[in-house]
Parts: sequence; structure tokens; C-alpha cells
Amino acid sequence: MYNSCIMKIFTSKNKETAFPCDALILPFIEGDGINVYSDINKSLNRMISRITASSEFAGKHNEVCLLHTKGEIKPDRVLLLGLGKSKQATRDKLRQAGGKAASYLRNLKIQNASLSSRIISSLKLSPVDFIEGCLLADYDFSKYKKEDSPRTGMKKITVLTQDNLHTEIQWTEALASAVYFARDLVNTPSNEMTPASLVRAARSLKKVSVKVLGEKEARKLGMGAYLSVAKGSDEPPKFIVMTYKTRSVKPVVLVGKSITFDSGGISLKPSEGMEKMKYDMAGGAAVLGVFKAISETNTPAHIIGILPAAENLPGGSASKPGDVVRTMSGKTVEIISTDAEGRLTLADSIEYAKRFKPSAIIDIATLTGACSIAFGNEAAAMMGNDETLMKKMKDASEDTSENVWQMPLFDAYRDYIKSDVADLKNTSGRSGSLVSSAYFLKEFAGDTPWIHLDIAGTAWIDKDRPYTPKGATGIGVRLLLSFLKK
Ligand code: BES
Ligand code: MN
Ligand code: ZN
Repeated sequence: MYNSCIMKIFTSKNKETAFPCDALILPFIEGDGINVYSDINKSLNRMISRITASSEFAGKHNEVCLLHTKGEIKPDRVLLLGLGKSKQATRDKLRQAGGKAASYLRNLKIQNASLSSRIISSLKLSPVDFIEGCLLADYDFSKYKKEDSPRTGMKKITVLTQDNLHTEIQWTEALASAVYFARDLVNTPSNEMTPASLVRAARSLKKVSVKVLGEKEARKLGMGAYLSVAKGSDEPPKFIVMTYKTRSVKPVVLVGKSITFDSGGISLKPSEGMEKMKYDMAGGAAVLGVFKAISETNTPAHIIGILPAAENLPGGSASKPGDVVRTMSGKTVEIISTDAEGRLTLADSIEYAKRFKPSAIIDIATLTGACSIAFGNEAAAMMGNDETLMKKMKDASEDTSENVWQMPLFDAYRDYIKSDVADLKNTSGRSGSLVSSAYFLKEFAGDTPWIHLDIAGTAWIDKDRPYTPKGATGIGVRLLLSFLKK
């Protein structure tokens, strides 16, 4: 049912010129000549130096130049690939270059490549980051297209290295297929990606135990805020709880917003662009991706995942502005806008999460349009009640280049969610809504260390990026995995 990476990664201690393949990838540093490759250049009758001496190829970041080797060496072709200036070379530039190489070769229907790691090692970087970029870039979502265009992605890349990268490569393959999994879930339209489909996705994971609370069970627990969101839809809500425990420590609870379609409800959204609101479960998809990677690699951990899945539609029994609901915590909430539904589902989820006496609660959610107004596609907003925890998330963000940026939770925001009739109201409108939405969640987190990540701007992109094809990005999977490792 789901895409899994079809590209396989190998390593070999062979020399570049002696390893047969369709294309040998030779990374270049801008303006640094070809001394590192003088032996290969010699075998190719100085074809490479002739090109670098001309203005055809300078080694600028993501610049490519393809040569045919005419049988002079074992690889049929050489792909010169720019990494940019050595001082500016970063892990993410390397991922991007990997993505560029994979897409370029894939467009030429080249399926079997090798990678020289000489320059990458000399930059004190790892070829595994390059490979991560190749794998992440090779994703496509074509399951709804007629089968007249069979998928011809890369089949095989062999890293030419003296190092033993086996464990890291295995991890990176698991990581990439977890990102694919999350992207698939998000790209799948809401007629096929319902709360019940999310249950099936959770149950597809081995070594993860899954408990699902239906409407009745959720009602018994008093989850009036969560249930109010699903009232207008014929799709039954599913409150999904996943457990993976191979370590006896306090758990980290990951809560992922899982609105399978957000029409806004009675506070209906404008129709333009509404089709994108299938991505309002991207937080839940990220959590599922994390569980997939952790469980498939048998990583020792104790994590709980909560996906309060529901569909937000208008209907005869839908919630209405002005309604007051009672949350599981006992606090009542006045619903000002039925379109501020995510925080209602998260409030009950965070309350439920506290039952596990977690060391931390992390929620990840496409929560506010204001987040994408503030950051575009470039960062997730981070807010929370624990600076040490947030520092770890910031470090994870730097490792993965899934950027997060901290916003303040000033006490003054308490006034924004004061209601005349209930303990809280779910919104005070657009002004400050990125932060006031988080402040609303903070009321439920209480003293438990907690981080909120708003991924409304980063979960979906409209233009291809070097290692992220347009559509669902799978944001959060790599970030949270790196965070958990810390
Ligand atoms: N799911 C949306 C937020 C969203 C908007 C995500 C655009 C991705 C792209 C959320 O449920 C929502 O509708 N938020 C409202 C809150 C408002 C009514 C206070 C918003 O941000 O406009
Ligand atoms: Mn909404
Ligand atoms: Zn929403």
C-alpha cells in the first residue's frame, strides 16, 4: 500500500575507476581544481581537467556536468557535482547535493551509481548525509496516476569508502522509509485517509501496541473538547494510542494533530485552497513515521504516541460558535471558532498524556495559519515550558535542518484566551494566534515538561526542493528522531 524506498545502498572498498556502474558521482569543491582526482583524470585522458579549466563547470553548489567515459574506466559515465565553497559546506548542503544527484540521474533513467567519498571525507562530513539526500529526493506519489508512466527511480548507489558505514546506512534507510510513510499518509486525500485509515496505519507497525478509543470510550473519559470537533462528520473519531517500550524509563509522549480534513466546520474556511486541508494530519503522520523508524530498527526506547484523529466538517450536529465544552481536565472551553479545532483535540490529548507520567510531552501540529504567515515554509514555531528541553529540540533542528524557531509565551497571552462564560476560549482571532494557541495548550500541560511545534508552514510545499519533492514534506520525522536520540 505504501511507498518504500526502492533505492538500495551498498558500500565497496573498490577504487572509483575499477567499480562498474552507470555513473560515478564525483563531488567537487568550488574553485579547488581537480588535484584530489588526478589519478581518475589521468585515466580519462585529462577530460575532467579540460572541463574544469573551461567555464563549463565550476563546482558551484548543486552544479552538475555529465561525461561519458568511453570505456576508459569501469563506470560508463562520470557525474561532476558541485558542493560549493569548502568553507560553506554543511551537512545540509551535502544532503541537498545528494538530492540533486539522485533527481538528475533519475531523469536520465540512470539506475545504478557509485559515489566517491574522497572530498566528502576531506571536508569532515559523512557520505551518509549525501545518501540521506538521495533517498529523500527519490520519493514520488503517483498511486492515483494511470500506470502508463512506470516509476524509474534509482535502484542502487554504492558508496566507495574504506569506512564501515553499515549501521549508519541501515539507520538512514529506515529513516527515509519512515519519511516516505509520513509523506504518503499526508498526500493521500481525505476520502481515503480517514481516522479509521490512521488506525490501520498504526496497526501496520510491528512491535508497536495500538489502543483505540472510540467515541464511547472517549466520552467516558470526559474528552468533550476532542469529541466536539468530530460531531459534524459521519467519520467516527478515533483516539489512537501507540506504545513502544523496550526500555524501563519514563516515556516521552508524542502527540500529533490528526485532523484528516479541516473544512473549518461551521466557521467554514474559504473554498480557495481548501483542498490542501487534507494535510491537517501531518503532525500525526510525523508521529507514525517516528514509530516506524524506531520499531523497525529495534531502537531501545519508551515512547507513547497519541493521535486524536477526527474530521472537522459542518453538519446538522456540528459544534457551533458559542458552544461550551468540558475537557478531560475539567476545564471548560467556549468555542469561538470551530476552525480553531486542533487545540481542542490537543487539549484532551495532553491531559490524557499526563496519565503516563511522562518525562516530556511533545506535540506537533499544523495548528495556525499565522505560523506559515510568520515563517513561510522555512521553520516550525517552537514554544514550551522547559528551556532545557527546548535547547535539545533546537540542537536536533540544527542536526537535521528541520528548522525550529522559538517564540515567547508571555503571561500576558493568558488574557487572549479568557472567556466570559467558560474557563477558557479557543481563540481570540488572528492577532497573536501563533502564540495564543500555544498558550492555550500550556494550560493543559501544567507542570509536565512540554514542547509545542507548529508545522503549519513546513508540512507542505508547492515547489520541489533538492531533497523534498513538492507536496507533503514529512517534516518532524527526522527532527523528532534526532531529538529522541538525545
Ligand atoms: N489547520 C488550520 C491551520 C492551518 C492553516 C494549517 C493553513 C495549515 C495551513 C487550523 O485548524 C486553523 O484553522 N487555524 C485557524 C485558527 C483561527 C480560527 C484562530 C487559523 O490559523 O486561521
Ligand atoms: Mn481549523
Ligand atoms: Zn486545523
